[in-house]
Amino acid sequence: MQIKTFGVVGAGQMGNGIAQVAAASGLNVIMNDIKDEFVERGLATIGKILSRSVEKGRLPAEDKDATLARIQKSIDLKDLATADFVVEAATEHESLKFQIFKDLDHICTTGVILATNTSSIPIGRIAAQTGRPDKIIGMHFMNPVPIMKLVEVIRGIATSEETFKTTWNLALEFNKTPAEANDYPGFIANRILLPMINEAVYCLYHGVGKREDIDTVMKLGMNHPMGPLALADLIGLDTCLAIMETLYDGFKDSKYRPCPLLRKYVEAGWLGRKTGRGFYEYG
Ligand SMILES: NC(=O)c1ccc[n+]([C@@H]2O[C@H](COP(=O)([O-])OP(=O)(O)OC[C@H]3O[C@@H](n4cnc5c(N)ncnc54)[C@H](O)[C@@H]3O)[C@@H](O)[C@H]2O)c1
Repeated sequence: MQIKTFGVVGAGQMGNGIAQVAAASGLNVIMNDIKDEFVERGLATIGKILSRSVEKGRLPAEDKDATLARIQKSIDLKDLATADFVVEAATEHESLKFQIFKDLDHICTTGVILATNTSSIPIGRIAAQTGRPDKIIGMHFMNPVPIMKLVEVIRGIATSEETFKTTWNLALEFNKTPAEANDYPGFIANRILLPMINEAVYCLYHGVGKREDIDTVMKLGMNHPMGPLALADLIGLDTCLAIMETLYDGFKDSKYRPCPLLRKYVEAGWLGRKTGRGFYEYG
């Protein structure tokens, strides 16, 4: 099936980034969220990023306008009936994603691939909610989507070769570099990254170091571009906690136990940059 119309469920930091790269590659995009204000906020973010590229002379102004014009707003999942390929990038909650996939399975025509940008929820479990497990796949973009080159393409146990190839090629069309992973908790990226971030939170919790020192050690000592606590704030502490819970649940190993301090911050609504406060404060 030729992909002309691309659906994105969730217009948050990942969803609007995915919508932007899809529209920039020439696809018509339907960007869906549960409230108009969330879709508007996603669109405003895309507009801001594209305007910055125009100001810096990296993008002709008419390309910005054309990209924005290709994005259609939606607050009704049924609008995705015309999509040829859908990526779900809603909040990292298993039951929420299960419901979205059940609904998409009824709404979208049978040939349509339904991909998920989940950070850690097993693809096989999501696929089992649908009548098309061969067309369910992980398409895991990195944050911030317009900048980061990687897309982790995750095969579920039932994912067909055709679904895999189509998704892989779409990542290439988006000017990304795909990497293949199999369906185990956290896949590759977050199985490695999140235990490190969780350990950094434990260092803060145990008073091994202050937030700045923990981040400085990892930046200057390990040559990481960002410290783990600043990176956790960028990812979103709710998403970090959800991934750790999936790892802990999946492996039943105490080394994946989420740090109580991480949970405490999430319970306080300190989710990182997106709420203005996480391990650091943002203006
Ligand atoms: N933040 C990261 O660094 C990162 C990186 C890779 C993957 N992910 C994954 O991407 C997904 C989204 O994360 P995010 O950081 O964009 O979160 P976010 O909180 O910024 O955005 C999530 C959006 O989903 C919307 N949403 C919730 N329920 C919905 C529904 N039923 N239908 C449509 N939209 C709905 C919310 O209103 C919100 O706008 C998660 O699965 C997350 O694990 C996140």
